[in-house]
Amino acid sequence: MNPAVKSACDYSRKHGWKPFLVDWGLRGLIEGWIYEATKERLSGILHKGGTVLGSSRSKRFFDLQYREQAYRHLQEKKISKLIVIGGDGSFSALNQFYSDFGVPFAGIPATIDNDIPGTDYCLGVDTALNMIRWSVDSIRDTASSFSRAFVVETMGRHCGYLAMTSALATGAEVCLVPEIPYDLDSIAERLRKEKEEGRKYLLGIVAEGTGMGESLTRWMGEALGMDARLTVLGHIQRGGSPTVYDRVMAFKFANAAVESLASGQTNQVMTFKDGSYGSASINEITDQQHHVDPSLIKLCEAISR
Ligand code: F6P
Repeated sequence: MNPAVKSACDYSRKHGWKPFLVDWGLRGLIEGWIYEATKERLSGILHKGGTVLGSSRSKRFFDLQYREQAYRHLQEKKISKLIVIGGDGSFSALNQFYSDFGVPFAGIPATIDNDIPGTDYCLGVDTALNMIRWSVDSIRDTASSFSRAFVVETMGRHCGYLAMTSALATGAEVCLVPEIPYDLDSIAERLRKEKEEGRKYLLGIVAEGTGMGESLTRWMGEALGMDARLTVLGHIQRGGSPTVYDRVMAFKFANAAVESLASGQTNQVMTFKDGSYGSASINEITDQQHHVDPSLIKLCEAISR
C-alpha cells in the first residue's frame, strides 16, 4: 500500500494537483484527519509493510450524518477527488459517498486474499505469498530432519488462492481449499504409496476457509502413522517489506487511478485482467462473483485428491 500512496501523490503533482493524505481510512475522513502530502510524510515509506496512513473499519460511514461530516472536511480543504486503496467494502463506501455528494473516486484493489472480482491481482498478494513461501521452506527443515508431517494454514478468508499458489510453489504434497472437493481416502492412498517409495516427510497447505487445519493434522498423524504438527501462519502473512512485483504493481495501479480521475471518470476500480491493465466500474465489480483462475485450480487438483 505504501508504494501506491507515494506514487499516487507524486503522479498527481505532475497533473498540477495538490495531494492530501487521509489518516486511518474512513474514520479519518469522518474525523477530518486529513493532511497535506508533504515530502516528509512520503519519504522513506516505499519499503515499509502495512500502511503508514493507518487503516480502520468504520461502521459510522454507513450513516449519512457522518458522511456529511466527512464531506464538510473535504470541502474545507478544497478536495474534489479521492483515491481509495482497499477492497470491495471500501469501494462500495466511496461509491455511496459519490452518490451522496458527487465526489469522484478511483479504487486500487488491495487484499492478500486476491478475491476482488474483475481483477487477477490485488496489491499485497505477492508479498504475502513470499512470506508463506519463506515460512514453508523453513518448516520443511524440521519436517525433513524429523521425518514429520506438517500442515500449514494460510489466510485468504473464503478464497483458496494463497493456499493453492503457495502449495505449488513449495512443492506441498497436499492442498485443501474451498474451491476443490477433497477426498481424504484417496489422498491417504496416494501418500501411503509415496511413503512406500521412499518419501520421508510431508507438507500440507490448507486454506483457512476450509476450517480443516486441526483435523487434517490429526488425520495425517492417524491415517499415515506420522508425527504431525500444525502451523497457523496468521498475520505474519500480512506484514513485511513489499516485494519488487508488489511495488511495481502499486505504481501501475496508482498512476492508472490518477489518470482515471484526470480523464473525468468518476467511480472506477483499477484492474489487471488476462495480462492487461484497465478499469471497471464499481457496479461491474460488485455485481460479479470472484472465481479463482481455473488453470490454477487444475494444477492443484493433483494434490487435493
Ligand atoms: O481479508 C484479509 C484477511 O487477512 C483474511 O485473509 C483474514 O481472514 C482476515 O483478513 C483477518 O482479519 P483480522 O486481521 O481482522 O483478524
